[in-house]
Amino acid sequence: MSGVRKITVLGAGNVGGTLAQRLAELDVADEVVLIDIVDGLPQGKALDIQESAPILGFSTRITGSTSLEAIAGSDIVVETAGLARKPGMSRSDLLTKNADILRDHALAVKAHAPEATVIVVTNPVDVMTYWFRKVSGLPAARVFGESGTLDTARFRWFVAEALHVAPRDVTGFVLGTHGDTMVPVLSHTNVSGVPLTTLLPAPQLEAIVARTRAGGAEIVNLLKMGSAFYAPSAAQAEMVAAVARNEHRVVGVTAHLAGEYGLHDVCLGVPVVLGRAGVEKVVQVTLTPSERQAFEASAAAVQADLAVLPTLAKA
Ligand code: LAC
Repeated sequence: MSGVRKITVLGAGNVGGTLAQRLAELDVADEVVLIDIVDGLPQGKALDIQESAPILGFSTRITGSTSLEAIAGSDIVVETAGLARKPGMSRSDLLTKNADILRDHALAVKAHAPEATVIVVTNPVDVMTYWFRKVSGLPAARVFGESGTLDTARFRWFVAEALHVAPRDVTGFVLGTHGDTMVPVLSHTNVSGVPLTTLLPAPQLEAIVARTRAGGAEIVNLLKMGSAFYAPSAAQAEMVAAVARNEHRVVGVTAHLAGEYGLHDVCLGVPVVLGRAGVEKVVQVTLTPSERQAFEASAAAVQADLAVLPTLAKA
């Protein structure tokens, strides 16, 4: 097994529980700790996953706890805690409630696991990633969020379905916020090297872009009692593996920008190189004028949400 010693998953809901299962099965850490405030939930899910080890063959030790001190010594922390969307709610509606929860967690990471790499999943993820970094004081390279890996997976699936090709042969990325203004980048999407724009007519491409943007809401509306967790946890596991195994993967994450794409002090979805050091590099690509415009609109939407944070910081 190549990987790290300890991974902590904060939040034992559908996302956190499924992620813990995927991480155990990937065998990327000696130890996975699942933490939640609801006593019994993290311990029960951890034990249930642990008992699958003899069948599935993994060696990871998985435990549950209600104490944030169980973060101690983690190499990687995945933040999934917080409220999920209900039908009709936008990700931004969750902002203030989830910022309160994440403040405690960011301070716990600062106190008990300052060397950790943190992957933020809690929505609105672009704002929560910024907030977690600010409160924890960790370096920007080691605090990033899930967005592109998930949105790109949805986008890739819709393309694969339309073309009747293997999903893994579709590659591309989604830029900007993990929200209604995200930008699936058609000009850089291809199928085993063949440009997508030569394979599907424009109206069908536009429909796929629109469905990708509403991908999270489509699941919320179907489930009626929570948001997606199978594809999200798969995307998170991909990110964790990239860090734990130092894979230098090129994937989309919500990264802190310091001048890249002409943007400063904001966290947004961009392609990066991801390895043991976290975000090793933000990959900058040339966009068409309309993609550029859409990306800037996406940045403006996140910046408007960030304006709420100074008030929370004083609270
Ligand atoms: C989604 C939620 C988790 O995109 O943001 O499914």
